Amino acid sequence: MQPYSSARDEFEGMAPVMLDANENSLGSVGPDDFSRYPDPHQRAIKADLAQLKGVTPENIFLGNGSDEAIDLLVRLTCTPGQDSIVVCPPTYGMYEVAANLNDVRVEQLPLTPDFQLAANAAQLLAASSAKLVFLCSPNNPTGNLLAQDAIEAILRSFKGFVVVDEAYADFAMSPSWTTRLPEFPRLVVLQTFSKAWGLAGLRLGVAYGSPELIAYLNKIKPPYNISAATQQHALAALAAAPQLPEMQAELLNSRRWLAEQLPLLPIVEHVFPSDANFLLVRFNVDATAVYDQLRARGIVVRNRTTQPGCAGSLRLTVGTTDENAQLLQALTEIGAELPTEVATSR
Ligand SMILES: Cc1ncc(COP(=O)(O)O)c(C=O)c1O
Repeated sequence: MQPYSSARDEFEGMAPVMLDANENSLGSVGPDDFSRYPDPHQRAIKADLAQLKGVTPENIFLGNGSDEAIDLLVRLTCTPGQDSIVVCPPTYGMYEVAANLNDVRVEQLPLTPDFQLAANAAQLLAASSAKLVFLCSPNNPTGNLLAQDAIEAILRSFKGFVVVDEAYADFAMSPSWTTRLPEFPRLVVLQTFSKAWGLAGLRLGVAYGSPELIAYLNKIKPPYNISAATQQHALAALAAAPQLPEMQAELLNSRRWLAEQLPLLPIVEHVFPSDANFLLVRFNVDATAVYDQLRARGIVVRNRTTQPGCAGSLRLTVGTTDENAQLLQALTEIGAELPTEVATSR
């Protein structure tokens, strides 16, 4: 298809008189001037990000959150009513939502009870005609990294695109799959500014891939998908990148503290190991009752009890030191108050 050619595609930069895009030359209503359309190619962010990540700007697609990249990947590679994608539950729900929205079939390749890829995953995928497989590592909601050799085997066996979603990779002690892009032309790596960067409200996600794939994503995206406000804030954040490790270290310390403290509570059955900024916790009491009681105390967590392999489990995001202490105190009180008949049934 012929992509939309925007005014800012045809003329780059600023001239003294800009009357090409039907903007409001008088300025903006409100305190800040956003009267001009943003750079549709987001050149400044890509230049900085390329340097930070050791890739080229041609390897980078920027989306309105990685959720936009997920949707565009499905739309780019799948024919509605005909093609399929593969997901590995329990995992991030938007892969399936994007597929459903685009009338694309979803094949399930469930993770093992310890939330790893099945031993025969690469073999099964070799025989699959699916166009995409989504591998979330560290996985949401389980928190663990998927084994590197299992992902590598899939990259070698599967004929479609392998999307490794690294939304939580900044909390893991493992090299990013972006370092392997030159080896695997069908590898796509998703990252986001929503987690370790603390910029979920901005909506900025990144897909790294081969220049060919990225060119196609850029061709089908809405022309101005990243707002001027987001581009300005992202550039400021990238300039402040040296602050990132300090914040990361603090969150990792808090994760360690919670992972040590939670198992000491009588209502906690198991704290799953985490490489992310959250912990999946299995309770030996009715987890939904725990969820409700936390909510009644003003603490909102994520109820994951209905997810495959996550019976009795809640997902707890690591918060500030004070929030974590409040959470632990509330769980201690809830454990003491829960009636014994609830405490014996899951
Ligand atoms: C695994 C995973 N991927 C992607 C996203 C979405 O990220 P974004 O805020 O960039 O759309 C999330 C958000 O929770 C997530 O858990």
